[in-house]
Amino acid sequence: MAEKQLTKESQTRTLRSWMLGLHATHIIDIGGRLGYFAELGRHGGAASAQALAAALQLDPWRTEVWCRAACTVGVLGYEDDKGFVFAPFMAELLGEESPELLTSHVLASLSRDFPAYPEAFRTGATKTFHEHDADFFFHQSRIAALRAPEIVAAARKVPGIEACLQAGGRVMDVGSGSGMTIVRFAEEFPTCRVVGIEPLPYFIEYSRRLIQERGVQNRVHVEPIGGERIAFDKEIDLITMVQVFHELPDGAKLEVLRHCQRSLKPGGVLLLVDRCSPDSGADLRDRRFTMSILEQWFEVTWGNIVNTRSEILQMLGDTGFTVTQENADIVPTYWTFVAEKTR
Ligand SMILES: C[S@@+](CC[C@H](N)C(=O)[O-])C[C@H]1O[C@@H](n2cnc3c(N)ncnc32)[C@H](O)[C@@H]1O
Repeated sequence: MAEKQLTKESQTRTLRSWMLGLHATHIIDIGGRLGYFAELGRHGGAASAQALAAALQLDPWRTEVWCRAACTVGVLGYEDDKGFVFAPFMAELLGEESPELLTSHVLASLSRDFPAYPEAFRTGATKTFHEHDADFFFHQSRIAALRAPEIVAAARKVPGIEACLQAGGRVMDVGSGSGMTIVRFAEEFPTCRVVGIEPLPYFIEYSRRLIQERGVQNRVHVEPIGGERIAFDKEIDLITMVQVFHELPDGAKLEVLRHCQRSLKPGGVLLLVDRCSPDSGADLRDRRFTMSILEQWFEVTWGNIVNTRSEILQMLGDTGFTVTQENADIVPTYWTFVAEKTR
C-alpha cells in the first residue's frame, strides 16, 4: 500500500482534529455526568435544551451551550421540528454503562493530573494511584466491571484451568481493586474459592460491599494487604494480576512475584495482564504498544514504571516461573503472560 502523502495542510488538520477530540471528550464526560444523554433518551431521543434543563433542574442557557457544543463535535444533531437529537448510533454508544461513556469519564478524571506535569517534570514530584480522589476510583471500578468477563474468559483458555475451577479450585487476584474480577470468578465457577489482595481502603470497602450484594461471601474474601505480604504457601491454583504489575513500586516487583510463586501449588498458573513498554524503536510503530505507551504517559507522574516485555519475562524467569504463552490478543489492548510455577 502506498504511504499516505503528508503535507503541511494535512498535518495541520490532524493537529486540529486532536484538539477537537480533547473538547469532545470533555463534552461527553460532562454531558454524561449531568445526565443529558440519559434524559434525552427518556425524551425518546429528541428534546429542546429548555426541556432537558427543566427535567434535570439545570441552567437553561448553559444547557443550550452544551447542546450546541455536542452538536458541533457530532455527538448530537439538530432538527428544526424536534430540537436536539442523538447523532446516529450515539444513543447506544453513550448509554450509562457504555464503555465509550465510561472511558471519557476516566480520561477526564485522569486529565486532572496534567496541570501539575510541567512542575512535576522539573522536580520529580509524584502523585501515586492511591493519592487520587474518590471520583477517579469510582470510574476505575466501572471500567473494571467491563474487563472482568474478559479476564475470566482468558483464564478459561489456559489449559487445565477450567476443569480445576469447576472442581472447586482456588483463585487469588492480586490488586483486586473494586472486586469485579473476584466476584465474576465466583459467579462463573460456583464451587471455586477466591481471595482478593488489595491495600487501598476505598477498594477494600467497595469490594466487600459488592461481595455481600452478589451473595458470594461464603467463597470470596478480600485480604487488606499489599502483594508484598501475601502469606499463602502452595495453596492457590490460579493467580490473576490485572493492571497491577506496573503499579507496584519498582523495588517491590520481584518480591510480589516471589510471594505469588510461593502461593501457587506446583504447576499452578499466574495470569499476568498488563502493559509493556517498547523494547525498540520499531515497537514505537507497532500498534500493539499504543495503549502501553499512553498508559506510561498518563501515569508518568504517579511513580509507575511500565516495564518492557523482555524485562517482565526476565523477572518471571528469575522468580521461578516458566512463561508458556504470551501475546497481545488474549485480553484486547493488554499484554498477557501465562506463567507456570516450575520449581
Ligand atoms: C489499576 S488498578 C487495577 C485493579 C484491578 N486489578 C482491575 O483490573 O480493575 C491497580 C490496583 O493495584 C493495587 N495495588 C497497588 N499497590 C499494590 C500492592 N503493593 N499490592 C497489591 N495491589 C496493589 C491498587 O490498590 C489497585 O487496586
